[in-house]
Amino acid sequence: MEELYRQKSLEYWDDRHKEYDRASIKVDDWLERFDDLIMAAQKPILDLGCGSGNDTLYLISKGKKVISCDQSPNAIMNIAKNFPECYDIKCFNMLDGMPFEDGSFEIVIADLCLHYFLEKDTKKILDEINRILQPGGHMILRVNSVNDVLHGAGDGREIEPHVYEMEGKTIKRFFDDDDIRYFFKDFDIEYMKEEIMTRYKLEKRLYRVCVRKR
Ligand SMILES: C[S@@+](CC[C@H](N)C(=O)[O-])C[C@H]1O[C@@H](n2cnc3c(N)ncnc32)[C@H](O)[C@@H]1O
Repeated sequence: MEELYRQKSLEYWDDRHKEYDRASIKVDDWLERFDDLIMAAQKPILDLGCGSGNDTLYLISKGKKVISCDQSPNAIMNIAKNFPECYDIKCFNMLDGMPFEDGSFEIVIADLCLHYFLEKDTKKILDEINRILQPGGHMILRVNSVNDVLHGAGDGREIEPHVYEMEGKTIKRFFDDDDIRYFFKDFDIEYMKEEIMTRYKLEKRLYRVCVRKR
């Protein structure tokens, strides 16, 4: 069953990430709050689950070196086409671990890409991010909120607390305050706020979070 979720996720996202050009990519300003950290970073910044590259574009526009990664070959092909300035581009599934040395990064961005997993896989991915961050490094992320009813919170079969099987058998997790504290307990949580994002057609309720590796 878990293999099915993994396969469906890849099919779903690879289909969503067909051809698009740079002009169609919208940046929202959510990373601005962390500009001090971002501007101080000396090493390349990792954009995990980069998708069409909204955050890659933001980081490049700030003059940063970016390594953009996704599971979707189509997403990666478009990133290569649209962002020749990228420092590096990698296609891998986060469930298989991450192809980086321990302590490689000062900053990892994980925007709306950590909420597609069962508990054990979420923990495995977060352990892997912890491994590749340098001590004192930061992960800046957004995840679905349990109040994101316009994007499926509470819809479909609940296969684990706050995890719903969607039509087509992909899964989505929705977080509340306790879930954030639970999943990110091995990090220091420096910022955590539930808020509304308006980049999509329907408003989206999510958590914006910044955690620090101990
Ligand atoms: C909602 S999109 C977010 C894209 C981008 N970060 C943004 O906020 O605009 C989720 C992305 O996570 C990627 N993703 C989901 N599961 C993944 C996995 N197991 N490994 C790598 N990437 C994954 C998808 O392919 C997709 O591009």
